[in-house]
Amino acid sequence: MSLPIIIDTDPGQDDAVAILLALASPEFEVLGITAVAGNVPLALTEVNARKICELAGQSDIKVYSGAIRPMLRPLVTAEHVHGRTGLDGPVLPEPTMPLQQQHAVDFIVETLMERPAGTVALCTLGPLTNIGLALVREPRIASRIKRIVAMGGGFFEGGNTTPAAEFNIYVDPQAARLVFDAGIPITLIPLDCTHQALTTRARVEKFRKMTNKSGPAVAELLDFFERFDEQKYGTDGGPLHDPCVIAWLLKPELFTSRDVNVSIECESELTMGMTVIDWWRVTERKANATVCRGIDADGFFALMAERIAKLR
Ligand code: BDR
Ligand code: CA
Repeated sequence: MSLPIIIDTDPGQDDAVAILLALASPEFEVLGITAVAGNVPLALTEVNARKICELAGQSDIKVYSGAIRPMLRPLVTAEHVHGRTGLDGPVLPEPTMPLQQQHAVDFIVETLMERPAGTVALCTLGPLTNIGLALVREPRIASRIKRIVAMGGGFFEGGNTTPAAEFNIYVDPQAARLVFDAGIPITLIPLDCTHQALTTRARVEKFRKMTNKSGPAVAELLDFFERFDEQKYGTDGGPLHDPCVIAWLLKPELFTSRDVNVSIECESELTMGMTVIDWWRVTERKANATVCRGIDADGFFALMAERIAKLR
C-alpha cells in the first residue's frame, strides 16, 4: 500500500529534484503539491511546481497555490542561489496543466479532515507558512497528521542565511514555532545532515548520462544550483537539501538521528529563526522531533539515480 503524501514546497532546484524523486517512487500516492513563497515569490513557485510535474510526464498531479508571504515577517527570497525564476538551469516549457482553484491551506485542511487520521504525511521543503496557517485554521489537523518530514534548521553547522538560521526556518519562524509546538510527529532534516549530501561532479554526471528526459534535466538543475554553495563552502558540489526529505520516507536507514527537543527562536533579531536543538538533552524539554544528523550520501545518491532513471 502506498503512503499518501502532500508535498509543500517553494521550487527551487533542490525542491524540484525532491518532487521528481517522489513522483518516481511507487511507495507514494502524491495527493497534491502545495506551493508557498520562499526561494522566489509564490507566482513563480506554483508555476515551477507544475513545470516539474510536466517534466516527469505527470500532469495529472494537483498543484495548489498557498501563502503569498510569511505569517508576520516580510518575505525574504533567495534569487542569488536559485536564479531569477527559482528554477534557472534547464529550459523547461511553460506548463499547460492547470493550477487548482482551491487555496493550498484549504486543501491541506480538507484532506487531513477527510482522510482517516494518522494516514497522510506532509513533506515540507520550504518555509512552514502553509502548514502554520492550516494549524491556525483547523487545529484538529495536528492529531490527524501521520508525520511531518521537514527540511529546515541547523545546529552544529549553524545557519546558511544568518550565522544562526537556515533559510526555511528564517523566512517564517513564527510558522515554524507553531508547527514544532503542535505535538505532531516530526522528522527534521537540518543542514547538519544535508551538508553531507554533496552534488559532486561524479554524482551529477550519472544523471547527465541517463537516456531519459528527466535525468539530464536534473543534471542541469544541479549545475546551476551548486555553483553558489561550491563558492561559499569550497566543496566539490553543493548540499542537496530537499530530496533528503523524500529519501528519509523511502529509506530511513540511510540516516542517523535522535529524538530531541527543537525550539524555534522568534524573539531575538540576532538569532531569529534559529533551531535550538537540545541534542545533548541538557534541558527537561520534551522531545518533539526526530532530528537527523548523519546521512549515507552514497546510498542516498544511488537511490536517487535508480529512481530518476525510471522517469520519463
Ligand atoms: C533550503 O532553502 C532553500 O534554498 C532550499 O530549497 C532548501 O529548502 C535550504 O536551506
Ligand atoms: Ca526548498
